[in-house]
Amino acid sequence: MVKICCIGAGYVGGPTMAVIALKCPSIEVAVVDISVSRIAAWNSDQLPIYEPGLDDVVKQCRGRNLFFSTDVEKHVCEADIVFVSVNTPTKTRGLGAGKAADLTYWESAARMIADVSKSDKIVVEKSTVPVKTAEAIEKILTHNGKGIKFQILSNPEFLAEGTAIEDLFKPDRVLIGGRETPEGQKAIQALKDVYAHWVPEDRILTTNLWSAELSKLAANAFLAQRISSVNAMSALCEATGANVKQVSFAVGTDSRIGPKFLNASVGFGGSCFQKDILNLVYICECNGLPEVAEYWKQVIKINDYQKGRFVNRVVASMFNTVANKKIAILGFAFKKDTGDTRETPAIDVMNKFDWDHPIHLQPMSPSTVKQVSVVWDAYAATKDAHGLCILTEWDEFRNLDYQKIFDNMQKPAFVFDGRNIVDVDKLREIGFIVYSIGKPLDPWLKDMPAVA
Ligand code: NAD
Ligand code: UDX
Repeated sequence: MVKICCIGAGYVGGPTMAVIALKCPSIEVAVVDISVSRIAAWNSDQLPIYEPGLDDVVKQCRGRNLFFSTDVEKHVCEADIVFVSVNTPTKTRGLGAGKAADLTYWESAARMIADVSKSDKIVVEKSTVPVKTAEAIEKILTHNGKGIKFQILSNPEFLAEGTAIEDLFKPDRVLIGGRETPEGQKAIQALKDVYAHWVPEDRILTTNLWSAELSKLAANAFLAQRISSVNAMSALCEATGANVKQVSFAVGTDSRIGPKFLNASVGFGGSCFQKDILNLVYICECNGLPEVAEYWKQVIKINDYQKGRFVNRVVASMFNTVANKKIAILGFAFKKDTGDTRETPAIDVMNKFDWDHPIHLQPMSPSTVKQVSVVWDAYAATKDAHGLCILTEWDEFRNLDYQKIFDNMQKPAFVFDGRNIVDVDKLREIGFIVYSIGKPLDPWLKDMPAVA
């Protein structure tokens, strides 16, 4: 029986390994983590992450061929294939601070693998890492491995949160990079055999190590660039009377461009896009390519501009101040169908408001932090509010009783839709002053220009 161990039981390690265990009953999968509470949650009925379909997959295989454990060393020692899916955040200090990937967790995992291994192993980079990381990992393993042979593979993960299980069941592609030596090719084949249990062979791409590592950064950069492109257009739409939804649709019907990922928004968030682009920018700079670095930096600049532009619209519309006003924030996660709030645009938007004054959040656990109170219910959040901001596109916000909300708000009542999910005409009929990203402006907003 092949044994797999995955170091890191997070948003990637947990769901990915659960799906491997489900699809490969002949493989034993252990997911290990240094976080005792995370592992306890994986072993409970309340999983540590919310992801549609995940509970079901875990229930089917946990205790059968899927195990969650804090005994990292034991499971690494016993495994044939070790996935490393630890976090790789942006460095906050030292060389490359604010841009480079912090590989501390990765390096410590690699040193531990070298330390505890007693048999040859395939080590798989699942985390998103800078191109050429495999070379560094190889050095750590071979210099500390006491003669044990390690093959390093790059197998970046392309799942998106909120659709992780769907993405893992039917991936657009699985990418495996390895050394072009006979041993490297044998290792690639071993990992291919795992995925081949459910992924059609033509969707399993194999490349050299550096192409696989760089493809992950490139894919995220391209995706984020599309959002910044449509968000840049949304500003021009507001200035000209064009409607960004219509423009996106018209542009996306070109088969060379395609319709997906063209939704204008308050800005992209999440733990990946900004971090990975900053990482790409740093790599370009380190390789003497300042023009390329500058090109990708613009994607983040536009994203910051978009968040700032949204806040300016809110403040300018409300007589240039939010002082002594109640603002209801609907949604806090960085996108719908996830509980993840890492790098959510809602944090930046709220930080840009005047913190001397009350801001009301929903939905999170009921608690009160400084000027922020958190409630479960959109109706409670909007009661007596001067304005409401939709910052996550949760389905429930599409179907609220907006008449009831209007009746209970201060007048004039404002809706600022950062996700383009409300029916603007209907809300205007009710009496709201509505701002919806990239849509033709309410006459009220035209009279209150917001300078970005
Ligand atoms: P995460 O923070 O949710 O999980 C990482 C886990 O690794 C944590 O639970 C942490 O305790 C554990 N860990 C850290 N060092 C460890 C060690 N030495 N031994 C054992 N456990 C250790 O992170 P994530 O969102 O799962 O992301 C993991 C990687 O995958 C990152 O490189 C990320 O860029 C990449 N990625 C993430 C996504 C996503 O949607 N979140 C998608 C694709 C790729
Ligand atoms: C992303 C990549 O999609 C995934 O392939 C990679 O593995 C990890 O990073 P994720 O961050 O989980 O996934 O979610 P994604 O759906 O890409 O959304 C990222 C952000 O962009 C969210 O804040 C989302 O609301 C925003 N977005 C997305 C838009 O603003 N407009 C769009 O059209 C699409």
